[in-house]
Amino acid sequence: MDYTQSKNQPEILLVDDTPEHIETAVTVLRENNFRVRIATKGSTAFKLIEQHPPDLILLDVYMPEMDGFEICRIIKTESDYSSIPIIFLTSSNDAESIKKGFELGAQDYVVKPFNTSELLARVHTHIKLKKQTESLITANHELDSFCYTVAHDLKAPLLSLSKLTEYLALDYSDRLGIDGRELIDNIQDKSKEMIRLVNHLLELSRMSEMPMNIEPINLELLFREVFNDLITLEPARNVEFNIESLPIIQGDPVMIKLLVINILTNALKYTRNQKQAHIEATTIENETEFIISVNDNGVGFDMRYSSRLFSVFQRLHSQNEFEGSGVGLAIIQRILKRHHALAWMTGEVDEGATLFFSFGKA
Ligand SMILES: Nc1ncnc2c1ncn2[C@@H]1O[C@H](COP(=O)(O)OP(=O)(O)OP(=O)(O)O)[C@@H](O)[C@H]1O
Ligand SMILES: [Mg+2]
Repeated sequence: MDYTQSKNQPEILLVDDTPEHIETAVTVLRENNFRVRIATKGSTAFKLIEQHPPDLILLDVYMPEMDGFEICRIIKTESDYSSIPIIFLTSSNDAESIKKGFELGAQDYVVKPFNTSELLARVHTHIKLKKQTESLITANHELDSFCYTVAHDLKAPLLSLSKLTEYLALDYSDRLGIDGRELIDNIQDKSKEMIRLVNHLLELSRMSEMPMNIEPINLELLFREVFNDLITLEPARNVEFNIESLPIIQGDPVMIKLLVINILTNALKYTRNQKQAHIEATTIENETEFIISVNDNGVGFDMRYSSRLFSVFQRLHSQNEFEGSGVGLAIIQRILKRHHALAWMTGEVDEGATLFFSFGKA
């Protein structure tokens, strides 16, 4: 290692076994204030990455023992270092290698023999991108903890407020008169709404941080159990719930239950005005994933605004029509993201809505 260079300078790991290439690359990179470490084979590269992860890896395609593709595949899919950008070093007119490199997750390539300004430009770009991504991730984490703290600190005073108005209503109802009691009712409704919102926000934050515990989950049983729980809260409703074969998936049971609760709460809420509500859960599958859909015959929504649905606090219906905080679908998406899965929705005004989510097969 060159100790004359500062620790703050970006560090590059060069994995190459050709002395002339090493020499050219190292000279130009050091002249431009990068710290450079060198590995002439895969096993050394992994050791150096473990010791201290570099900011970028320059990777030769052809090497004895283990070629650059295999090294790239392992770093990108089997290690904790998949976010380190990799630039492949290939020989000219090697379109196949370039294609394969990109497929394996490499960020870029440079053709040998190097054009030094091109090499530098690409290295600079990818290090800058990596730093920007890292600062976005940190900012998101900070925002999440901020959201958690605000929600958490609001919860206790809100609960007191709700309790205090309850006592007021109980102990002073004869002195309040009809108007006074109506005001108290309104205050209680609003504080319940705020408590629901705060609880939802806390759930949303928890879904990003909570450690996962993956096990097989029978979705069909889970959907039935959650539906039965929810429908007992609304015994007067007339709802037909059909399940047409749902799979067993690998997921975190706490998170997946919350996912199903949010999906069915929406389906029940937005079919509330139907004399006969229909909710149906089905699955289609391909080789790699299940696509599960939950369809309802409720009020539906205007597809023009569908891109907003999964963002926090975005609602397409007013509070008077349907109560809610606009957090449920954001929780759904966050849970699915933690499972490397995805949700989307389709709907039409007065024609019902369908929530889809894709879930990888184990
Ligand atoms: N099944 C559905 N049918 C029609 N509109 C829906 C359906 N599901 C969601 N939406 C629309 O998407 C919006 C966002 O849904 P989301 O579940 O995030 O929030 P919410 O139900 O309003 O409140 P909560 O935070 O209590 O879940 C809803 O306000 C509604 O406009
Ligand atoms: Mg909801």
